[in-house]
Amino acid sequence: MKIAIAGKGGVGKTFISGTLSRLFANDGFKVLAIDADPAMNLSYALGIASDISSKVKPIAENKELIERRVGKGPIYNIAPTVNDITENFGIVGPEGVMLLIMGTIRTGGSGCMCPANSLIRALIRHITLERKDMVIMDMEAGLEHLGRATIKGFDILLCVVEPGTQSIETAKKIKNLSNDIGIQKVMAVGNKIMQKEDIDFLKKSLNEVGLELIHTIPFDQNIIKADSQAIAPLDLSPNSPAVKAIEGLKENLKMMHR
Ligand SMILES: Nc1ncnc2c1ncn2[C@@H]1O[C@H](COP(=O)(O)OP(=O)(O)OP(=O)(O)O)[C@@H](O)[C@H]1O
Ligand SMILES: [Mg+2]
Repeated sequence: MKIAIAGKGGVGKTFISGTLSRLFANDGFKVLAIDADPAMNLSYALGIASDISSKVKPIAENKELIERRVGKGPIYNIAPTVNDITENFGIVGPEGVMLLIMGTIRTGGSGCMCPANSLIRALIRHITLERKDMVIMDMEAGLEHLGRATIKGFDILLCVVEPGTQSIETAKKIKNLSNDIGIQKVMAVGNKIMQKEDIDFLKKSLNEVGLELIHTIPFDQNIIKADSQAIAPLDLSPNSPAVKAIEGLKENLKMMHR
């Protein structure tokens, strides 16, 4: 299963990506977590210490690697070797989740042909087509990065929404783009739910944009606490309501993929 997690800024993409990755790994899946957000904070949600993750150069910024694989120009190798990159540049975290930090991906719009993008494109293609792992990709807020090359090959795109019209607007744009790209399953997950009315609101507004709400996660102070202490929510409060809800989401996804 290859799952991309997208949505408006601050809706909870990173919290959900990191927690879901570890819960799947706990169930025995070999999980590859991809940080595709230039802000690069998935390591926190995975419980990887920042002194370890900050030493790792994001793939898109690893000039030496890019030069060696794609070339210095003027002629570039459009089919660079990438099958060793996950193992050589990934970081293994709790429960054995492998984290790959991509760095800034600029593949949208005009389709920049710069060498960094050639490498990332080949790498993502390899990961989606040839690797058997469960892949969970935490994406950048907004849509610029939603280029064909980044999410093509993913089976499921989860749009994280929160009660409020803005995140629904973003979800609508994401859905349209994903449909163009040919992602089979685009579904919504509601986060930071405070009351039943929030769910009613989300169901109604998502219905209007043609998105199914497959799961909801409550607003939970424990998650904010974990964030302020820079501890993974799963480590600080494994039994908190929001973490438990992500366990439910994991089961839901498993059933869906059967
Ligand atoms: N269910 C929840 N209850 C309470 N707070 C939450 C919940 N989910 C996420 N948060 C908080 O919301 C903030 C944003 O979460 P997170 O970083 O996961 O979002 P994001 O979508 O990845 O943001 P960005 O777009 O900046 O990457 C964090 O402070 C996090 O602790
Ligand atoms: Mg994030």
